[in-house]
Amino acid sequence: MNERMSERFVDLIQRKRDGGRLAPHEIRDMIGRYTGGQIPDYQMSAMLMAICFQGMDDEELTALTMAMRDSGDMVDLSPLPGVKVDKHSTGGVGDKTTLIVAPIVAACGVPVAKMSGRGLGFTGGTIDKLESIPGFRTDLTREEFFCAVEKNGLCVTGQSGELAPADKMLYALRDVTATVSSIPLIAASIMSKKLAAGSDKILLEVTTGSGALIQDPEGSRELARRMCAIGRGAGKETVAMITSMDEPLGYAIGNNLEVIEAIEVLRGGGPEDVKEVCLALAGMMIALGQDGAAPTGNSYEYDAKGYNPSEYNSFEKDLFLKGKERAREALESGAAFEKFKAMAAAQGGDVSYIEDTEKFEKATVSGELTAEKSGYLSRFDTAGIGVTASLLGAGRETKDSAIDFSAGIRLKKKQGERVEQGEAIAVLYTSGQLKLAQALEHMRGCVEISGQKPAPIQLIQDIIR
Ligand code: URA
Repeated sequence: MNERMSERFVDLIQRKRDGGRLAPHEIRDMIGRYTGGQIPDYQMSAMLMAICFQGMDDEELTALTMAMRDSGDMVDLSPLPGVKVDKHSTGGVGDKTTLIVAPIVAACGVPVAKMSGRGLGFTGGTIDKLESIPGFRTDLTREEFFCAVEKNGLCVTGQSGELAPADKMLYALRDVTATVSSIPLIAASIMSKKLAAGSDKILLEVTTGSGALIQDPEGSRELARRMCAIGRGAGKETVAMITSMDEPLGYAIGNNLEVIEAIEVLRGGGPEDVKEVCLALAGMMIALGQDGAAPTGNSYEYDAKGYNPSEYNSFEKDLFLKGKERAREALESGAAFEKFKAMAAAQGGDVSYIEDTEKFEKATVSGELTAEKSGYLSRFDTAGIGVTASLLGAGRETKDSAIDFSAGIRLKKKQGERVEQGEAIAVLYTSGQLKLAQALEHMRGCVEISGQKPAPIQLIQDIIR
């Protein structure tokens, strides 16, 4: 390694450590040299820790994100007609929203050309869920991806090419240096991949609560603001919706269990919380997908729930509410369900499973988690429930582990409901008695029962631009 370069980089680390700022050209140079092997991991680790303590202003953060975006392939969606709106969730437990929102939005004429990821840790990935439909291909070539969007207005596939490889390198380093939780570093990591994925506009779902990446609401708002600022800096309209992850979304957690629940919603039934979040997300994507529909800055209020918008909530309310109405029509008319089937057929999926969900593979072993005492379900450790699902086989410990598509959890009760001693709170599904016993023990610690009925969960907590 070049001695002079290493000395110069030490000066940058020191400046950041002492609260100074890095110029955009210095940040771009840093990422170029790090991905080129000219800055060693120990120096980059020190820089990440300095950023962790000192933060970054919006200009630094945009420069970091753009440099990471430019480190690999960029998808060009411009040959596809219409305004392409991407959706990203910071993750949660039981989060099957993409499976529902994408076909709703496509059924309303807004094209969805989406590259999704696999699950790692306690949050599931859309690609794994889709692959639980026998035959469903998520490894489409760029040409197949474009053809599917042109034909159906909808395609959800895995990443092709290498988007933002600098993020992969930096994330691996953050993972072992206790720097994952830095809000600017999370914002740059997510947005570098979103900006490389080529959409015209971006809708972010930033989850908050016990099953979210950032659990406190103020931290989640801060992450949302920083990501929206990056989007703005990159010239892409970006909106963030803060949603609660204080309990799993819906009742199903695990790959084919979640697909079955998503199909129930697409058929007009399913859990109310899933429907509420999906209609809000779809409504916002439809609003963003209106050509030239720039928000006017009118004050926005979320429905008639008495919710006071924060100073960041200024989005064109009418467009959003109209979008939600169109989303509801697409769901109720069955148009969204037809789109989902068309997407599955185009990607090789066996549509007979979607028409008859009884055909999905079932777990060989199951057991109930029962209430130890009577009372109200007052709190879920939602991340812990996600870990339980992984223990059952629904998630992967490393990126190469195999997934058991039929493993997971079906909740029988949601937070706030009353349970009597001995009554079932959840059914756990897996492939062996030992796994079941370990998972039951783990999940018992994730559920609190008390004499006090908790306040209802507010699902949509804020909208930030
Ligand atoms: N997800 C990402 O893509 N990056 C992070 O840093 C955290 C969550």
